Amino acid sequence: MENNETVAAPVHMPRIGEAAPAFKAVTTQGEINFPGDYKGSWVILFSHPADFTPVCTSEFMTFATREKDFNELNCKLVGLSVDGLYSHIAWLRTIKDKIDYKGMKNVEVTFPLIEDITMNVAKLYGMIQPGESNTKAVRAVFVIDPKGVIRTIIYYPLSMGRNFDELIRVVQALKAADEFGIATPADWRPGDDVIVPTAGSCGVAKERMEGKEAGVTCHDWFFCTKKIPKEEVLKAVTKK
Ligand code: BEZ
Repeated sequence: MENNETVAAPVHMPRIGEAAPAFKAVTTQGEINFPGDYKGSWVILFSHPADFTPVCTSEFMTFATREKDFNELNCKLVGLSVDGLYSHIAWLRTIKDKIDYKGMKNVEVTFPLIEDITMNVAKLYGMIQPGESNTKAVRAVFVIDPKGVIRTIIYYPLSMGRNFDELIRVVQALKAADEFGIATPADWRPGDDVIVPTAGSCGVAKERMEGKEAGVTCHDWFFCTKKIPKEEVLKAVTKK
């Protein structure tokens, strides 16, 4: 390496299966101690690039409108951008007082929105991605379980608003996997067939392939599914 070459500082990127990095922050709902204050609940920590921008406004209105759907899954919401508290307050007031969008109006955002002018939290969570922007967080989504473990991470670019059906589906699928010890196939939704763990022995695999395991259908020895009724899944994923 030439002497005048600079080496980029290592960037901390949290990973699935790791403890959510801890921080204290000021929010529109007072101070929070994350993830400690959320122990016992699922929580989605999400970032947006900037207050007073259109895609973010559409997303905040949707997060607030669908907050009850997340809460039914015992999942709380926490937002973040690198704007200051007074900007957050003014923006959320503007949303409530002035914005009428897709049937959503008078929308009050009551979940906490973190101020992060220092970018300390955004950097801790790998939300600043310089290829996209040095000065704004990308649209990150961290789904964290009741023990404070990161279970899903999704990043979207600045230009793309998130899909809220998908975010809800992610929480449902994670909770269903935990509750029933199954995995969920492509495009799964509650009520669709689920994937049963691969048989631990040749004997069980053979029985399954021969259709001898009640309720289990095998497409091959490594790919077996079963039904869990929609009501049963919804009951399980909506419990605390
Ligand atoms: C938006 O939310 O509209 C937005 C924010 C930052 C860059 C581009 C779009």
